Amino acid sequence: MPLWRNTQSRYGLVTIISHWLTAITVVGLFILGLWMTDLTYYDPWYKQGPDIHRSIGILLAMLVIGRLLWRLANVQPLPLPSHRNWEKRAARMTHVSLYLLMLVMFASGYLITTAEGQALDVFTWFSLPAVVTGGEVGVENLPDVAGLVHEVVAFTLIGLAAVHALAALKHHFFDKDRTLVRMLGKRES
Ligand code: HEM
Ligand code: HEM
Repeated sequence: MPLWRNTQSRYGLVTIISHWLTAITVVGLFILGLWMTDLTYYDPWYKQGPDIHRSIGILLAMLVIGRLLWRLANVQPLPLPSHRNWEKRAARMTHVSLYLLMLVMFASGYLITTAEGQALDVFTWFSLPAVVTGGEVGVENLPDVAGLVHEVVAFTLIGLAAVHALAALKHHFFDKDRTLVRMLGKRES
């Protein structure tokens, strides 16, 4: 029977599936974001690119918030005994930062779209209303400020995710421990 929940020694399927779905989607949104902001007005993707980017971004936000709630309702697997103290601290700081940076991406992306009062359509499925407008908080250029934050934090997030991925590969190929294998859901042999 599949183990949906985490245990002290393993990640459960919910954590594993949402981790890899998050990783693929974040990288996909980064590439789509850079590509779509380079298009000219007459390109057929000029409007469609951002529509898709925003919609997938909101779905990812829902996934990440769900994943954080799931994390609260689950035990976390213990660090492997071979992990040194500084590695445990660095991993914890990296994971917290990855979550925080993703939340900043969702908030800034939402504000770029809604800061002048427009609603945000998620495909044709549902739409999120504007909650704060730039005028209300006294920041007339709120979409530009949010756009700058969104761009800078996107590069920071991808940079940190690259360090995080390299750390996972170091554990796998150099330390030859189960850190990566655990996130791939393989059982102990
Ligand atoms: C944008 C891409 C990525 C993001 C945002 C991301 C985010 C995260 C987060 C937040 C955690 C902590 C999970 C938790 O305890 O709640 C985690 C764990 C983990 N990630 Fe990623 N990740 C990404 C890409 C990758 C890649 C490419 C790899 C492998 C090459 C990887 C390997 C792992 C492993 C092995 C763990 C478990 C670490 C441990 O048990 O201490 N991640 N990831
Ligand atoms: C982790 C998730 C996300 C990543 C990695 C990401 C990445 C990016 C990148 C790299 C750009 C191009 C920035 C530039 O060069 O100006 C961009 C633009 C944009 N993103 Fe995101 N994004 C994410 C989530 C979201 C969300 C949730 C929304 C909205 C709900 C959103 C809305 C936008 C908009 C409207 C633009 C165009 C900004 C402009 O025209 O200057 N993004 N994104």
